[in-house]
Amino acid sequence: MFVFRPRFGSNRAGEGDDTAQVAQYMPAMSLVLHKAARLSVAPMMDWTDRHCRYLHRLLSKHTLLYTEMVTAPALVRGQARHLLRFDPAEQPVALQLGGSDPIELAEAAAMGAEEGYPEINLNCGCPSDRVQSGSFGAVLMEDAALVALCCRAMIAAQPAEVTVKCRIGVDDQDPSEVLPEFLSQIVAAGVNRVTIHARKAWLQGLSPKENRDIPPLDYDLVFEMKQLFPNLHISINGGVASLDQARELLDAGMDGVMIGRAAYHNPTDILQRADDVIYGGGAGPDPVDVVLAMRPYIEAHLADDSRGGGKLAHVTKHMLGLFAGRPGARQWRRLLSEQAHKPGAGWSVVEDALAAMEQAAA
Ligand SMILES: Cc1cc2nc3c(=O)[nH]c(=O)nc-3n(C[C@H](O)[C@H](O)[C@H](O)COP(=O)(O)O)c2cc1C
Repeated sequence: MFVFRPRFGSNRAGEGDDTAQVAQYMPAMSLVLHKAARLSVAPMMDWTDRHCRYLHRLLSKHTLLYTEMVTAPALVRGQARHLLRFDPAEQPVALQLGGSDPIELAEAAAMGAEEGYPEINLNCGCPSDRVQSGSFGAVLMEDAALVALCCRAMIAAQPAEVTVKCRIGVDDQDPSEVLPEFLSQIVAAGVNRVTIHARKAWLQGLSPKENRDIPPLDYDLVFEMKQLFPNLHISINGGVASLDQARELLDAGMDGVMIGRAAYHNPTDILQRADDVIYGGGAGPDPVDVVLAMRPYIEAHLADDSRGGGKLAHVTKHMLGLFAGRPGARQWRRLLSEQAHKPGAGWSVVEDALAAMEQAAA
């Protein structure tokens, strides 16, 4: 049986202990996170893997990036530490966990913090069947007390900031009753930052994909939560299609905006100007320069012996939208989609795709 031993509780770890070293830089990271959380790219299974996050980081230095959901059982029972791998260049990057067992989540959060994640986010929004049967994700909106217990355990076990991503409710719950109760419980547990996907999840009858579009968005309710919980950092999520819309939501009083699909499909439109529009710095690089800057990363991935040599398409599938809406984008996308998965495909495929795009644009 697994026995829980808090590894970071009250920073009591001994001198020379790795965990103590990790704990030391967490307060500084929490300031970075606070600023970064003005804009974030949502956790998205199979999409926001480490290759995707590396690409997004080249476009914006400051935007907060989230991992795909990693389940606590996979980490704790499966010891699947490889799921935590990331490149330090991705920082600030937050680990999203799925789970509902406070002890297991605490242990998984400690593993994440040890790996270097400054934020651990608990998924209370994902409606998929697999997640429901494990009794976590959106179904947790029905048990705020359990979520609070999970958050307390995660906070006590390690020094990274614990945050929550939730829906406004599920099924026939009344969001205007459920959401304030949910938030007050997690705030009492010590959570200071939350992301609210501003629509319900229907746990029966809708696919995960439909659950991202069909239940109507209720931004007003999220703004009401900001009135009710002025000290809670609230990011709004759901249906934000442009950086200008994100800016408007911030100007209207939101602390942060999280963008999912639009950031994935149009990374340049959302992220290249983010440092300028959201954080008041300079704009990010031109997408052609981003492609060229990916070369060392791609070549290292292709040569990664630990995985028997990585495949080009693992990385380039996230780059298909880099030129969305620009002349030659179709040629770029087509050449990469057709060639990058072929055995032996290497950097020259990316150069060919750039050339095809430039030719079409000329
Ligand atoms: C392919 C895909 C995978 C997703 N996986 C996760 C996930 O692992 N964890 C999570 O909390 N939300 C997940 N989501 C939901 C997004 O984080 C986000 O809440 C949702 O897409 C709404 O934001 P958007 O309208 O900006 O896309 C996923 C969404 C997509 C499109």
